[in-house]
Amino acid sequence: MNASSTQSHGRAGTSLRFRELPPSHIDRALDHAALVFHESYEDELRERHRRALLRCDRFGAYEDDHLVGLLAAHRLSLSVPGGRLPCAGLTFVSVTPTHRRRGVLSGLLERLWRHCAASDRPLAALWASETTIYGRYGFGAATALSSIEIDSRRPLALRVTPDPRPLRLVAPAEAPALLAPLHESGLARRAGSPARDPHWWRTQILPEEDEDDDELGPPRVIVLGDGAPAGYAVYRTRGGDDDRTGLVQVDELEADAAPVAAALWSYLASIDLTGTVRAWGRPADDPLLLMAADRDQVRVTAQSPALWLRLVDVRAALTARSWAASADLVLDVRDARIAANHGRFRLVASPGRCTYEATADPADLTLDVRDLAACYLGGTPVTQLVRAGLAAEHAPDAAAAFDAALRTEYLPFTSDEF
Ligand SMILES: CC(C)(COP(=O)(O)OP(=O)(O)OC[C@H]1O[C@@H](n2cnc3c(N)ncnc32)[C@H](O)[C@@H]1OP(=O)(O)O)[C@@H](O)C(=O)NCCC(=O)NCCS
Repeated sequence: MNASSTQSHGRAGTSLRFRELPPSHIDRALDHAALVFHESYEDELRERHRRALLRCDRFGAYEDDHLVGLLAAHRLSLSVPGGRLPCAGLTFVSVTPTHRRRGVLSGLLERLWRHCAASDRPLAALWASETTIYGRYGFGAATALSSIEIDSRRPLALRVTPDPRPLRLVAPAEAPALLAPLHESGLARRAGSPARDPHWWRTQILPEEDEDDDELGPPRVIVLGDGAPAGYAVYRTRGGDDDRTGLVQVDELEADAAPVAAALWSYLASIDLTGTVRAWGRPADDPLLLMAADRDQVRVTAQSPALWLRLVDVRAALTARSWAASADLVLDVRDARIAANHGRFRLVASPGRCTYEATADPADLTLDVRDLAACYLGGTPVTQLVRAGLAAEHAPDAAAAFDAALRTEYLPFTSDEF
């Protein structure tokens, strides 16, 4: 067996091999993914996916020479409290319908963990199509999204006076360079988002067509402020007809101050021939919800988990993030998939320093690695996990002490869907 491949026996007794997928197999991989996701990848879309796969780490499950499973991983740099960490951003996770429930996904993930260890990637993350699948592999929902809808048939009523500086529309081609500094400063405030290069901006944030809704127009970019923008929004529109009002779909909105956000929301809510503003992916602590003067006009229509995070190397992940308060706790971490993470460890954290070492001391807290991942970016309080019966507290106030140390000023967030 080649050192970079692993072999296992499928449940039907056939032999499966998990190995890197070479560039020459990308067309096979795309045919496989189109079959699994009920898509047809042609022309421009196929070319876009081919380029995306070329930039990813790629693993295939092979039965003889047939590709029966695929997993690709973007090489991300994910914002975590106090910095960024290398992260495998999973995509194209797919198994041929004839080979379901034979351990193909499990084998691909085993292969990925080895790759992460070899390439110093302490984190893995994904957007789940079905949330029931990934918890067993140690992924926890680490960021959440709120969908917000504004009734814009009347002027948007806000309790904050909008910044009066002029707004300007800029061409999407200019956007990556212009918007990157503001986006980067947002990454330093909020954990959970990948850093973007111009290719990511073009393909993930500003593609010409919306993959989910072909009635929406191309991306529009509105910017506030001369020179370096103080805020921006990326949005698309659809005209109305007899049955429905025109729609403004907000894909992203960043602002460096509340009056700037107020100006951008007011603009989006005042576009002629539209009557609804729909922002599908906003942080749960979006200030818009507080600045709205009429919460019947600005409604949260859905809340859902967004980024599922896996601490592939718990020690590297914990010692790399910043801490809001000191804590000295023994964590009993349960990890059924990655042995090095499993067991009792003493976490000694303070705002400037963190150590995490194996110990024989009794545990203060017991929790599963998936729940540790849910807490890691500051999105889920450990005290809530204890109340939900998912973590066990063995020493008084251990969960509250851990929460105080994990706390972040802003809730973690990302709308970079990959
Ligand atoms: C989801 C998918 C990748 C799972 O692959 P698979 O090879 O069948 O998974 P495995 O055989 O390794 O199963 C691993 C475990 O997950 C469970 N599982 C897998 N998919 C599941 C699903 N959709 N719902 C519930 N449980 C599921 C299996 O029952 C198994 O549990 P066990 O270990 O307790 O027996 C595959 O079914 C698929 O390609 N689905 C369509 C595409 C898709 O949804 N991709 C995910 C995009 S995020």
